[in-house]
Amino acid sequence: MQQLTIRRPDDWHVHLRDGAMLQAVAAATARQFARAIVMPNLRPPVTTTAMARAYRERIQAAVRTTGGDALAAGFTPLMTAYLTETIDPADLAAGHAEGVLTAVKLYPAGATTNSDAGVRDLAAITPVLETLERIGMPLLIHGEVTDSDIDIFDREAVFIERVLAPLLARHPGLKVVLEHITTSDAADFVRSGPANLAATITPHHLHINRNAMFAGGLRPDFYCLPVAKRELHRIALRAAATSGNPKFFLGTDSAPHERHAKESACGCAGIYNAPVALESYAAVFDAESALDRLEAFASEHGPRFYGLPLNSGTITLERVDTLVPDRLDGAVSGDHTTELVPFHAGETLGWKLVG
Ligand code: DOR
Ligand code: ZN
Repeated sequence: MQQLTIRRPDDWHVHLRDGAMLQAVAAATARQFARAIVMPNLRPPVTTTAMARAYRERIQAAVRTTGGDALAAGFTPLMTAYLTETIDPADLAAGHAEGVLTAVKLYPAGATTNSDAGVRDLAAITPVLETLERIGMPLLIHGEVTDSDIDIFDREAVFIERVLAPLLARHPGLKVVLEHITTSDAADFVRSGPANLAATITPHHLHINRNAMFAGGLRPDFYCLPVAKRELHRIALRAAATSGNPKFFLGTDSAPHERHAKESACGCAGIYNAPVALESYAAVFDAESALDRLEAFASEHGPRFYGLPLNSGTITLERVDTLVPDRLDGAVSGDHTTELVPFHAGETLGWKLVG
């Protein structure tokens, strides 16, 4: 097969940031995806319908300015609210009913970038979870405990046991997406869970294991959260993604940080994969002899879980060697140039998005 044409896909988990970074990255996601679930971990976080509406307008304007009107017309950002212990459930419900808010994101406080305003005490958000359960609004979860005595490589598995399983038992009707899963424990838990539990899988967790961060020296471009795990987990994630099981779907967790912020004494977590996301997933499905299942993973399972229509139209990937640049440093906003290192920098991928 030299070309693969599939229904237009969506990204069910992306960080588009704000300001100059938004200008630098928005078009890359819009070129690859029809819709994207946009994470709310800005500073300050997006916690209200009004903030989400304004952010959506900034995203659409950034795509228009940097990618043109046609690209903007073909791209729909789906907005999320950042769950805090003081968030107003009535505002979330109103935002959902108006079509401004698609989902709500739960960050355990301290788990990752800009998560300080997240949730410390789950009991405090019971009324919010009851509202989400009642109105069918999905809860998207960053599934890691933050206790300093839990080893960083165990934080997802411990979260599932201590937090997620009890939460699902308390709210059996709640639609939950366990985001960016990184372990066989998570894949097993989701697979054996109820139909209202699903998971997103990133391209990087399908390609790298934890050794990538230490190959020949410290490699900050492979540092993300949840951190990549052992090879056996990567293999389990590849099996889940390519299985055809509708509980697993595409979510890039593309999370850009400027190069200087990644390559610093205390480097930020996040991998910028948006420019090559579909090529990266295609390489995995190809290697697993599962190209016939890429469309379902990328374009069908997500909208079905969210209760949204499938996209019309198609995209085409071509089997051709494509060199991914070392740096993307052309993004200029005002007098600021945003320098980014994309996932797969300097590597050759066997696929290219051609239309
Ligand atoms: O690696 C990550 N980067 N993981 C997250 O959960 C957040 C993200 C970010 O916002 O940079
Ligand atoms: Zn994320």
